[in-house]
Amino acid sequence: MERTGGLEGVVAAETRLSDVDGERGRLTLAGHDVEELAVGWSFEDAAALFLGGDPGSLRAALGAARQRAFARLSDLGPVLRLPNGMDALRGAIAQWPEDSSATDLTAAIGVVAAAWSRLRAGEPPVAPDPAAGHASDLLRAVGGREPPPPRVAALSSYLVTVLDHGMNASTFAARVVASTGSDLVSCVVAAIGALKGPLHGGAPGPVLDMLDAVGSPERAEAWIRAELASGRRIMGMGHRIYRVRDPRAAVLEAAISRIEADPSFAVGPRLRLARAVERTAERILAERHPDRPLKANVEFYTAVLLEAAGVPRTLFSMLFAAARAVGWCAHVAEQKASGRLIRPTSRYVGPQPRSVQAP
Ligand code: COA
Repeated sequence: MERTGGLEGVVAAETRLSDVDGERGRLTLAGHDVEELAVGWSFEDAAALFLGGDPGSLRAALGAARQRAFARLSDLGPVLRLPNGMDALRGAIAQWPEDSSATDLTAAIGVVAAAWSRLRAGEPPVAPDPAAGHASDLLRAVGGREPPPPRVAALSSYLVTVLDHGMNASTFAARVVASTGSDLVSCVVAAIGALKGPLHGGAPGPVLDMLDAVGSPERAEAWIRAELASGRRIMGMGHRIYRVRDPRAAVLEAAISRIEADPSFAVGPRLRLARAVERTAERILAERHPDRPLKANVEFYTAVLLEAAGVPRTLFSMLFAAARAVGWCAHVAEQKASGRLIRPTSRYVGPQPRSVQAP
């Protein structure tokens, strides 16, 4: 059956920011392979490729912006207590000043996310350390103490891996709003709304729920078959563009392998379960959709990595936003430079007015 409405294959913009090759499973981020950036590049190193400037200046600017964001938290009102983190984030960022910069908003999303998580756990938000690296300070703001370097490295790999990803739904939403001449805050708020959906950035929490529900590798097959029989999708599997395994799944799986031997993470059993569930899901989905490869996407190993880094699962989508904000803002700047309104068309299939109906 031919599907419409998904805009598959439609080129909506020219971009210098990232390229997703779905046939070969290759992701290029500002001229670098994702595999290169995900090992050893700090958040600031990679974000500077998108936002301009040098990593040292960006580190200082993000630190100062985190401090300013923290000072705003007390003015946000009850929005920080909303039960859904993405609702809280959307409502909070909507209150940011209209002239906020990309650095302001990137910092603000991380600060709001961490504060929301702390309040939810009954703890006070942690004031930022403006001299710290962004990934390290985010982890400290979530956990309340200085994070060990391997944890920071794990989170950095994640943040860098998901900085940008072609014309994904939230980036498209941001570019549509940018094309109207609206402000950056409005673009980012629109993007947060798009990212909230489970088909986009809402999947990694449910991936962990799935691993919990499966419990052990031998139960994977029965659980997955039951899930599909009841009409639900397997979270963390399938992708609009990739016809092979999402390269980001491999990058994040490798990042988890790097910390597997470290007893402080105790991630080994989780990783083995995740690999077993992935293999089983891939096999069963191939049976059901022989013509449509459905393999692990970025969210599958995001879930395992963020859990190992000590991030609560309720915070996963917000941290995704904290990284992707860099891509959103860079795309908004690109879109504004192009200056054209994005305004596609639709095919009317509703009733005709009486004036044009046959007598
Ligand atoms: N589990 C089970 N079936 C799936 C599936 C999944 N994860 N992903 C796709 N399918 C099935 C669809 O039900 C559809 O089946 P049908 O032809 O019998 O109706 C077929 O595969 C094609 O799906 P379609 O909706 O056209 O694919 P898409 O390109 O629109 O969807 C996703 C891409 C990512 C939205 C989809 O794969 C999905 O929902 N994955 C789970 C959510 C997720 O992990 N999101 C994070 C993305 S990074």
